Order: sequence, then structure tokens, then C-alpha cells
Amino acid sequence: MKFAFIIDPIERLDPGHDTSVAFMEAAQELGHEVWSTQLHHLSVVDSKAWALLEPVSLKPVELVQGRWVAAEQWYTLGLPQLLPLESMDAVFMRKDPPVTLSYLYATYILDCIDPHKTQVINAPSGLRHANEKMYALQFTEAVPETIVSHDKAIIRQFTEEKGSAVLKPLDGKAGEGILLLNPGDRNLNSLIEISTKRGQTPVMVQIYLPAAQAGDKRIILLDGKPIGAINRVPAEREFRGNMAAGGSVVRCDLTERDRQICTQLAPTLQRDGLVFVGIDIIGDYLTEVNVTSPTGVREVDRLEGTRLGHQVITWLTEDRNYAKT
Ligand SMILES: Nc1ncnc2c1ncn2[C@@H]1O[C@H](COP(=O)(O)OP(=O)(O)O)[C@@H](O)[C@H]1O
Ligand SMILES: [Mg+2]
Repeated sequence: MKFAFIIDPIERLDPGHDTSVAFMEAAQELGHEVWSTQLHHLSVVDSKAWALLEPVSLKPVELVQGRWVAAEQWYTLGLPQLLPLESMDAVFMRKDPPVTLSYLYATYILDCIDPHKTQVINAPSGLRHANEKMYALQFTEAVPETIVSHDKAIIRQFTEEKGSAVLKPLDGKAGEGILLLNPGDRNLNSLIEISTKRGQTPVMVQIYLPAAQAGDKRIILLDGKPIGAINRVPAEREFRGNMAAGGSVVRCDLTERDRQICTQLAPTLQRDGLVFVGIDIIGDYLTEVNVTSPTGVREVDRLEGTRLGHQVITWLTEDRNYAKT
């Protein structure tokens, strides 16, 4: 089979960390063709999506003393070819956030792929529908008390009422722009002004969950079912658990509550074509549903000895009756 990956420039990917590389490797190891492209190489011609695709061949990473080690030249690219994306069996949309206008336009281009011929993961309509921060809000029993506002007075009042709160830009990732708000902080007004661009952009403000000190759990869902999880524990003198913010990654089990949240999400994720998703759970609460290019596969595989990439590719190729016409 043929798999296309829409990614950031491949040389910028970290083979020992990026889930996209884990998927590409898995596809290659399972005997499939791997092609890569970027947002600016997508086109629509005669109402069909095309892409300038480069064949990729990879040297898989190896686990050495608990760390993924990659060859210096871990990938090679072949000659680019302009091909209809429907000539692929599946297309992985794995461009990293933020979701910019170019990203949104790419999803419209991907709408021109007939899903009966080629599955796009995640579905372009689902990617448009699911803002990674706000999508969680529909699961009212799972989310902590949260507001979304442009308004300084509303944000201040929420922070004062709750004692402390966490502010999140709606297009953020990897801990970027996440702020701890304290009512007594003399910078509070300024922090709100900077984050909302003086009231021009809404932000999310959520009660501070003390459980975050023990970690922010990432659960990886395939077709709504949990297939792996890790916990990210904030570094000293840091409240954010993100790996990019120095959080240490440790193994963890799923609690009853975690499973309950996954069950609650599953039908909605399936309805929206969100096949591969990473959810964040702090304590008993769902805080984020990552749909654009969720990470965590390398870390789960490293700690649990799993091969989640293989599981995803196998699910796509065998476990389902999606027949190519
Ligand atoms: N409500 C909260 N209470 C305490 N800490 C939080 C809360 N929400 C997020 N955090 C911390 O901030 C980090 C980033 O938040 P998150 O919502 O996952 O955004 P992103 O990962 O997209 O930057 C989390 O890993 C967690 O450590
Ligand atoms: Mg997160």
C-alpha cells in the first residue's frame, strides 16, 4: 500500500521523538510505500487533490540503553513526483500546529479526496471542527471549570473567584503561552492584555488543578480506543508538564476515570473522523484533545515495549473493511 505524510520539512523532525517518523517507519517496516509532502505542495486540479510527493526511505531508530538513537542520515528522499492523492491508500495530515490560514486551506484541499478511495487521518472536516483546546468543552462532565473570553474583567473575576487559574492561548501547543494566573499578581492585568492582544483574541482560562504537579497524562487513542499512555511530570520550578517544557516522561496506567473519559469521547471522535488523537488528562479532568499531530508514540514504545506505529498502520490496512475502489 501507499502512504503519504503531510509534514513539516523532514529535516526538522526529531526521529527519536516525532510520532510522524514512527508512523513512516512502521509503514516501511510493514512493506508499504512511504511518501512525504508539505502544505505548500498541495494543489487541486480538476476538483481532485494533488501533491508533489517525495518517496522516503528510513533507517529505523534503535533503542539503546532506554533512548532512541537515530543514524545521522536517518532518511533519504527520492525524486519528487506530482501525483493525485487518491493514488495513495491513506494520507496522514501531520503538519504541526498552530492551525494557520494555510493549514485551514490545506484541509479544504484534502476535502477533494474521496474518502472511499483514500482515508485522510485525521479527517479534514474533523481538523477544522476540533480546536485542540475548545473541543474538550463539549464533554462537560470531563472538563474542569473553564471560561473562554476576550474580556479582562471576566478573566480577572474568574481568577479571583477560583484563587488561581491557568490561561491558554487557543492556538497554542507544547506549553507555549500557558500562564499561571494569581489574583494577587501585580502583573495580572498586563498578562491578560498581552495574551488577549488587548481584548482582540479570546483565551481559555481554567481552574488550576493541583494534580498537575503529579503530572499531565497523555493518552493515545486509535479510533476512540486507548492504545497507550504516558505521564509528563513538570520539571522543578515549572508548572507545565509538556515535554517541550522539560517535563520528564514516566510510565503510567489508566485509571477507571481515564477509561470513562475515553469511552465518553469515542463516539464523538469517530463521528468527526478523528482517528488518531492524543488527549491530556490532569487528575480527573480532560484538559486537551490533540488532533493535529499528537505526539507520544515514541515515548510509550520506549517505556512499554509496544509498537504503536505498527498498530496504527495495521489498523488502517487490515482491521477495517475500508475497500479501495
Ligand atoms: N487546569 C490546569 N491546571 C494546572 N496545570 C495545567 C492546567 N492546564 C494545563 N496545565 C499545565 O500546562 C501544560 C500545557 O497545557 P495544555 O492545556 O495541555 O496545552 P498545550 O500542551 O497545548 O500547550 C500541561 O501539560 C499542564 O502541565
Ligand atoms: Mg498539552
